[in-house]
Amino acid sequence: MPEVSPDDFKGALGSWASGVTVVTTKLDGMVYGITVSSFASLSIDPLLITVGLADSNHLPGMIKKSKQFAVSILASDQQDISAYFARSGRDPQPEFDMPVRARVWHTGSPIIEGAIAHLDCELEHAIQGGDHTIAVGRVVGAAYDPAKQPLVYFRRAYRSVSEVSHGG
Ligand SMILES: Cc1cc2nc3c(=O)[nH]c(=O)nc-3n(C[C@H](O)[C@H](O)[C@H](O)COP(=O)(O)O)c2cc1C
Repeated sequence: MPEVSPDDFKGALGSWASGVTVVTTKLDGMVYGITVSSFASLSIDPLLITVGLADSNHLPGMIKKSKQFAVSILASDQQDISAYFARSGRDPQPEFDMPVRARVWHTGSPIIEGAIAHLDCELEHAIQGGDHTIAVGRVVGAAYDPAKQPLVYFRRAYRSVSEVSHGG
């Protein structure tokens, strides 16, 4: 089998247009979250979703202890929120900095205000997948705003839905 080059791997995966989420949790009074595009629906009965989280980051270890996390699906005007939660070197803190506004819902994990949808989850399984943890969440709260448009990520750039449909 020929070896797959890292550039081909990244290029192929970058061709997958996705939404952008922020996955958060709260542990011992400290909140933390990261920008995540590896979000997927998994099961209807029971209601399950998955996210893939790099083990080099604080989040998988925190979620394994808190047993809960929230997924906020970002709206088209939330690029700044995506950039905030994608910044390296952040540590858990009592509250997120401005401009992030968050509140707790069912589980105690913070959900991000202004998002197009929220999923509040209890941790069902944490599965090792290479250098990432696949967190399987049982959904205990789901809400969405039909008036908003989603933020889209495609070929390493933020897009809008209209841009994708016009091939931009
Ligand atoms: C659009 C976008 C999607 C991302 N998706 C993921 C993802 O699915 N899983 C992940 O672990 N990191 C993902 N990241 C990277 C993390 O957000 C980023 O590595 C993290 O916030 C930086 O923290 P650290 O370097 O301090 O660990 C994504 C970043 C961006 C901008």
